[in-house]
Amino acid sequence: MANRGNFSGRIGFILAAAGSAVGLGNIWRFPYLAGSNGGAIFLLVYLTCILLLCYPVMVGEIAIGRSANSDAYGSYNKLGGRKWGYLGLFGIMAGIFILSFYNVVAGWAFGYFLHISFGDLLNHQDFGGFFGDYVNDILDVSSVAGLANSNFIFSLVFMALTAIIVSQGIQKGIEAANKIMMPSLYLILIGIIIYSLTLPNAFSGVKFYLIPDFSELKIKTVVDGLKQAFFSLSLGMGALITYGSYLSKKENITSSALVISVADTSVAFFAGLMVFPLVHFLAFKLTIDPQQIGTSGPPLIFVVLPQIFSEMGLILGRIIGGSFFLLVCFAALTSTISLLEVPVAYLVDQKKMKRKNVVWLLALLIFICGLPSMVSQGMIPAFNKLTFYRGQDFLTFIADMSDICLTVGGCLMCIFISRQWGIANMDAELTHGNDGYMSSKTRSFLHITIQWVAPVLLGLLSILIIVEKFFGIDNLI
Ligand code: TRP
Repeated sequence: MANRGNFSGRIGFILAAAGSAVGLGNIWRFPYLAGSNGGAIFLLVYLTCILLLCYPVMVGEIAIGRSANSDAYGSYNKLGGRKWGYLGLFGIMAGIFILSFYNVVAGWAFGYFLHISFGDLLNHQDFGGFFGDYVNDILDVSSVAGLANSNFIFSLVFMALTAIIVSQGIQKGIEAANKIMMPSLYLILIGIIIYSLTLPNAFSGVKFYLIPDFSELKIKTVVDGLKQAFFSLSLGMGALITYGSYLSKKENITSSALVISVADTSVAFFAGLMVFPLVHFLAFKLTIDPQQIGTSGPPLIFVVLPQIFSEMGLILGRIIGGSFFLLVCFAALTSTISLLEVPVAYLVDQKKMKRKNVVWLLALLIFICGLPSMVSQGMIPAFNKLTFYRGQDFLTFIADMSDICLTVGGCLMCIFISRQWGIANMDAELTHGNDGYMSSKTRSFLHITIQWVAPVLLGLLSILIIVEKFFGIDNLI
């Protein structure tokens, strides 16, 4: 297939895949899940999931994509026939749903970046109230803190930025954008960590984050760890099949996957190292117990952190707070482009449509699919409290459903490799770019995990996740 586009080499591919992986999941969700699941013990569970379940699935996805040289649907279809093609389509649909709500949250972050850097959000007294109003009325164009406050506009702009990048193609768009944003993201992250460690009481935050409490090890810790690991590494819906299809046969898949996993995990780990010293600094300033600061859910980065930035004084607060939200926007944008690329590749490859047209069409459609999530934060009460979903809001519902799709998708991918495509074909693909693969320990490890460990555990855990979502796991165990 000519002219599908390709990455210029190993670095371009790794940066793009790591960019897809590093996102809101790392900077926002990981720290609060770690915080509410016993800190270091969560980290341990998370790392085990990455090694035993995520790394093998990642290698499998990239191998499938590169071998078939096609989009998620096309790859399964080519290697396994029409029936398996539906698994690809299922992934593409899951990606569309993820992008629809992900872009809403990215829009919040983009608005906060503007409000903190250029508006006077930091002078606000009531950060909780501000956030509540902000996510509630999405069409509020009245000027708050010197800027229009409409999340409708912010997320529309964010989707347009995503579309501009994806429409430029693989090398000129996706790879170039990642080559700028990923290094900047690391620099900002390290800069803020260094600064936050100099604040009073910072080390009490580090201790909380790093000293394990084994009494916290519960089934929920494992379920949360797995969900987070899959989401964070962008697995289970064909994003890496798609990126893998643009990778040259010269490159080593197993080692690239290792670098991507380490890059993603380190950003999640560092995000915790940035957030907890800040939270303990705030507790110190306000002379309260850190436990009293609500660090779970969206309030962590949209309520607690802005309050901390405002404690730093106006100028420093603008610089540190502005950089923080710029970091979040970069992380989100490198992920949204990977999410948009999946259905774009499908239409370009299968329906032979022109990339530019497809990109804008899909961006608009997915933005519209995101509207229910956007109005679910209070603006339209019916979406705010779903009666069939334990009274939770639509955004939570759709985010939870995607978690399920990802682990189910990963489980089916393992079954596809062992029962349909054949593990020998995967081996053959992995030998390209890695001459020693056939006699390596990695090969034995992948054989055991992909054929046995991963499908069984992913199947079981998917069932647990479904039970947890619909019935609440605390009631059961
Ligand atoms: N991994 C990203 C994050 O942590 C989100 C993401 C991007 C994603 N592409 C994906 C999740 C594909 C699942 C599948 O924020």
